[in-house]
Amino acid sequence: MPGDPLRAKFIADNILQNPELVSHTRNVFFYTGTYNGHQVTVGASGMGCPSIGIYSFELFKEYDVQCIIRIGTCGSYHPHIGLYELINTDLACSESTFAACAFGFEGDTMPHQGNAYDIINQTAASLQMNIRQGNIHSSDVFYRKDPGIPPVAEKHQCLAVEMEAFALFANARHLGRAAATLLTVSDVIPTREEISPDARERSLKPMITLALESAVRMK
Ligand code: HPA
Repeated sequence: MPGDPLRAKFIADNILQNPELVSHTRNVFFYTGTYNGHQVTVGASGMGCPSIGIYSFELFKEYDVQCIIRIGTCGSYHPHIGLYELINTDLACSESTFAACAFGFEGDTMPHQGNAYDIINQTAASLQMNIRQGNIHSSDVFYRKDPGIPPVAEKHQCLAVEMEAFALFANARHLGRAAATLLTVSDVIPTREEISPDARERSLKPMITLALESAVRMK
């Protein structure tokens, strides 16, 4: 589950076999196809906890989806965590009230759910791909006046910031499903380096491959 509908289309068009458009409500495309003979669905979450909160809840609840692997980009909080690095999210922390409002889950952290995180780690090892494991910050804001690391992210020693994992994990926890978040570093906040727009699509290929290879090992 990428954030961007066009990324879902890219994966369907270029990587899945026999993809079929199964939903396009609100221009958010979902495709079901096969990857190495296994049926897989790819579709977008939109940006932010409210958006992934809706799409992932409906997938789990209405479509009986058992596992969602979010694939996204993130901003690294540390100069030594560079562009293109992959992060498998152990727990997401947030200032968001999503989990408390929706389910009464108190606290500012939400762990990954089920076995998807472990399977991603095992799959990366078997493919000899380097990934980091660690905590990330699911922020409700993208643009802020202070470029420093926000207190909640300092408190939980976050490697990087994105905007969705906290709500995805909260939904999965409430509904007893598996959920993971795999991220590619697209920008390094302290040094202001970023992946150029034309290199973006290509740079996400290792993450997409790892997510699909992991998804087919979940079965
Ligand atoms: N902030 C939040 N989300 C992000 C960022 C960022 O800097 N980069 C990629 N996703």
